[in-house]
Amino acid sequence: MAEPPAPAEALRLTGIRKSFNAGSPNAVEILHGIDLTLQQGEFCALIGPSGSGKSTLLNIIGLLDRQSAGQLSIGGDPTAGLSDAALTELRGRRIGFVFQAHNLIGAFTALENVMMPRLLASNWPDATMRQAAAALLAKVGLERWADARVNNLSGGQAQRVAIARALAMDPVLVLADEPTGNLDTAAADSVFDLLRHMNRQRGTTFLVVTHDPRLAARCDRVIELVDGLVRADTRQQATGPA
Ligand SMILES: Nc1ncnc2c1ncn2[C@@H]1O[C@H](COP(=O)(O)OP(=O)(O)O)[C@@H](O)[C@H]1O
Ligand SMILES: [Mg+2]
Repeated sequence: MAEPPAPAEALRLTGIRKSFNAGSPNAVEILHGIDLTLQQGEFCALIGPSGSGKSTLLNIIGLLDRQSAGQLSIGGDPTAGLSDAALTELRGRRIGFVFQAHNLIGAFTALENVMMPRLLASNWPDATMRQAAAALLAKVGLERWADARVNNLSGGQAQRVAIARALAMDPVLVLADEPTGNLDTAAADSVFDLLRHMNRQRGTTFLVVTHDPRLAARCDRVIELVDGLVRADTRQQATGPA
């Protein structure tokens, strides 16, 4: 019998280093050589002390910042040698972001915010974009809030809109930097459950920075960053609801 096919890669990092203020007297290297591969469909926590380089690493993976050395590929596509325009295109098409502060446009409606990535990406017919965005809002439990301005939503609701927006382009990888950091425990649990549910339902790969050990316990894999290096990388049986 033939071997089952190897699962596809969502992300591969090899020897990623990052220095700030390179070439100046106060140059400082923050990431010291990160090797990491995520397979499609994995739900991973990124943990580590404050200042260990988690956000710096996420910004590099998300093509928002460039590494000083090392290689990065997204969904099997190498990024070496790509122009800024090509990186922007790759980011828009293949990566979704959820930040601690939701980064939505407060004066726009929930629906408009979820439509934004497709509006920016191409000339989709307006009706198709609306339908797709409305369907995503229904999936995150906000069907009735589609026409509400984000400014009028609770923190937990806004994070749900941010999750719908992150999934709008059906990305291979969603990066979430402390997505529940501003929420109370109940709202944090429910936002985390939603991320987990989207992972299981759509097979999207997630890399989620969290300080909360309870939430990390609910991931398939926990990657610990300490002083700019991966100190531990543990696969586990996730606890908690789907
Ligand atoms: N733009 C920057 N210029 C200089 N130093 C930075 C910059 N961004 C982050 N750092 C430093 O890099 C280190 C790691 O920061 P960060 O990635 O935000 O850590 P974490 O998200 O794990 O708390 C910190 O010491 C921080 O001060
Ligand atoms: Mg951070």
